[in-house]
Amino acid sequence: MTSVAGKTAFITGGGSGVGFGQAQVFAEAGCKVAIADIRQDHLDEAMAHFEGTGAEVLPIRLDITDRAAYAQAADKVEAELGPVQLIFNTAGVSIFGPMQNATPEDWEWQLNVNVWGVINGVHTFLPRMLDRGDDCHIVNTASMSAFVALKGTGLYCTTKMAVRGYSECLALDLADTRVRVSMLCPGAVNTNIHEAVLTRPAHLGATGYYGADPEVLAHLKDVISVGMEPDQLARHVLKGVEADQFYILPYPEFRETLDEIHGRVMNALAKPEDDPDYAKRVAHGVPGGKRKEG
Ligand SMILES: NC(=O)c1ccc[n+]([C@@H]2O[C@H](COP(=O)([O-])OP(=O)(O)OC[C@H]3O[C@@H](n4cnc5c(N)ncnc54)[C@H](O)[C@@H]3O)[C@@H](O)[C@H]2O)c1
Repeated sequence: MTSVAGKTAFITGGGSGVGFGQAQVFAEAGCKVAIADIRQDHLDEAMAHFEGTGAEVLPIRLDITDRAAYAQAADKVEAELGPVQLIFNTAGVSIFGPMQNATPEDWEWQLNVNVWGVINGVHTFLPRMLDRGDDCHIVNTASMSAFVALKGTGLYCTTKMAVRGYSECLALDLADTRVRVSMLCPGAVNTNIHEAVLTRPAHLGATGYYGADPEVLAHLKDVISVGMEPDQLARHVLKGVEADQFYILPYPEFRETLDEIHGRVMNALAKPEDDPDYAKRVAHGVPGGKRKEG
């Protein structure tokens, strides 16, 4: 998509952090923007920012895990701002600690928001995009945790690796359509993600981790406070969308770690000369060979 001006964008988690940065930057670039968020206070703060800027921004209170509400939100946005051509599946939550402490409810909350939330966004808007057949773009926010497993990040990392698999396959499946896909993988961003537990639904309240302990939240905030500013990150996203780029990876500090991970995988991978059946499988076209890049 060479220019996003005049397009309608739908941004989940648009009331805060990465999503709010995307709302700012894409509104500046001439998009009409719907910001969807579960927190009314985040929507209010975001709308206060846009007041007087002339940007066309519509706030929508939405829990992205609720598919029926998602469809209603999409209808409302399309009625008010026109057909949505850009979707940003950005909202996400995190909780950290050893996996052996996690309860089923911890897992369910993480998977519902970080994985189902993304799937619900695509499920809601993709059929509308394909029916219209115009140029559209889906941006899924994963994380560098989609590539790098770190001790104590198991639940979050599992969801982000799932978003990576989902996004990579979606890009391949949509290659012959006019819908492009990007996957944004941030490292640290200076956001409010340390407050994610505040949005945890009561019915998934049983946790093996921390609750809304102010000291824990302050510590988490400290860790990300030196992160990239969300509007700066969103400028990388704008460039990526304009260039139809699948990977949006603006964090050079991960180069060494990714090199090391890929090196370990390649060292572990069998060589053709070690497997007599290799040629037979390849000749038969068994997957493992070349694929079309997304
Ligand atoms: N902050 C970082 O360092 C970092 C790093 C890598 C990836 N990310 C990813 O960036 C994305 C955005 O997170 P952030 O850091 O901007 O956090 P944030 O908390 O500042 O923003 C997330 C927004 O999503 C909203 N939200 C949470 N659950 C929701 C739900 N069920 N339905 C609708 N909205 C919901 C929150 O209210 C919040 O406004 C997440 O997917 C996160 O995993 C963040």
